[in-house]
Amino acid sequence: MSLSKLDIYAVRNIQQQSISPSPAINLIVGENASGKSALIEAIFILGRAKSFRCSAIKSVINFNQAHLVVSAQTEQTNGSRVQLGIQMDGKTIEIHINQQAKQNRSDLAYALPLQLIHPKSYELLDGGSQLRREFLDWGVFNHDQNFLPIWRRFKKALSQRNALLKTRRLEQLNVWDKELVYYGTIVDGCRQRYLEQFKPVFSDIIGKFLAVEGLDLKLVSGWDLSRELGHVLINDRDKDLRYGFTHSGPHRGDFQLLINNRLAKDVVSRGQLKLLVMSLKLAQVQLLANEQNQSGCLLIDDFAAELDAINRAKLLRYLVDMACQVFITATEIQDFGDLSQIKDYKMFHVEHGTIKPV
Ligand SMILES: Nc1ncnc2c1ncn2[C@@H]1O[C@H](COP(=O)(O)OP(=O)(O)O)[C@@H](O)[C@H]1O
Ligand SMILES: [Mg+2]
Repeated sequence: MSLSKLDIYAVRNIQQQSISPSPAINLIVGENASGKSALIEAIFILGRAKSFRCSAIKSVINFNQAHLVVSAQTEQTNGSRVQLGIQMDGKTIEIHINQQAKQNRSDLAYALPLQLIHPKSYELLDGGSQLRREFLDWGVFNHDQNFLPIWRRFKKALSQRNALLKTRRLEQLNVWDKELVYYGTIVDGCRQRYLEQFKPVFSDIIGKFLAVEGLDLKLVSGWDLSRELGHVLINDRDKDLRYGFTHSGPHRGDFQLLINNRLAKDVVSRGQLKLLVMSLKLAQVQLLANEQNQSGCLLIDDFAAELDAINRAKLLRYLVDMACQVFITATEIQDFGDLSQIKDYKMFHVEHGTIKPV
């Protein structure tokens, strides 16, 4: 999958721009505050229907406009062309795929599998579990087409159960417990299977950037796996009633990256942490390419802030071999290093929200 034409309207300082990216590597250069991150943000919005820089989409929309629009022509791996579009005004989201209105963000996410590496990406290992859960589920979602409907039914059971806990309507609790256990156990199984496939790909990639011994990835299921989820729910019931929410289940799931049985984030430097996170993200894109013959799209914002020159060169070589579409931003052309090693790339220059091919 790659974007062959991209149209952006009213995203930050980008008023209206249209570009034809390379299906391989796209290098984006421009001074600070020229609109490089805005371009990355626009592509991210098209794939995820949200920004990675702020939770309120209102602040992404150009100050002088009421809504933003991002649309693109994509070439899918099977040769077909799909037209994607999203319009957001801060309240409503309109999604179009091949001119048809769609209800779900997941429709976009399937058509445009995106990964992003940016200066705050280290939070994946340093921050709360929600980011890691989302990361894991993005992988599972793209790996296993059955996952999304199961996950939705799990979420429904969970919110029904929580509502009953809050209003203390205990008579219906058993029904929702059963649903929650049934779908929750499947969700956990999907995550486990995904992680097993993910591990060797990840360890292969990290080996190219870092020499670390004793690295391990462990799934945290969200409850004590030595007991069945149903028993745990019964056991937790008093506590759940007191607090008005469900304490155990895959909604509390997580994964741990360990080095010799300690959390990696506690024992590595900030630079190493960034390499670990980058490798996790690359591994997801690589696994997708291996398995589904589906190349995702990789966004790397602020290349030089992320990596030193040696690792930048290694990463570029890796990306050339991986053959997926990449958008990389930097303030200086020199930050991309020796460009003679890259055959197929396009460069764009960004200035005051205007994007021009170089
Ligand atoms: N909602 C908005 N409307 C218009 N301009 C904005 C908006 N939000 C941010 N900007 C401006 O957009 C410019 C581009 O920002 P950004 O994409 O972060 O630049 P870069 O990544 O190139 O350093 C900045 O000058 C910023 O002040
Ligand atoms: Mg930026």
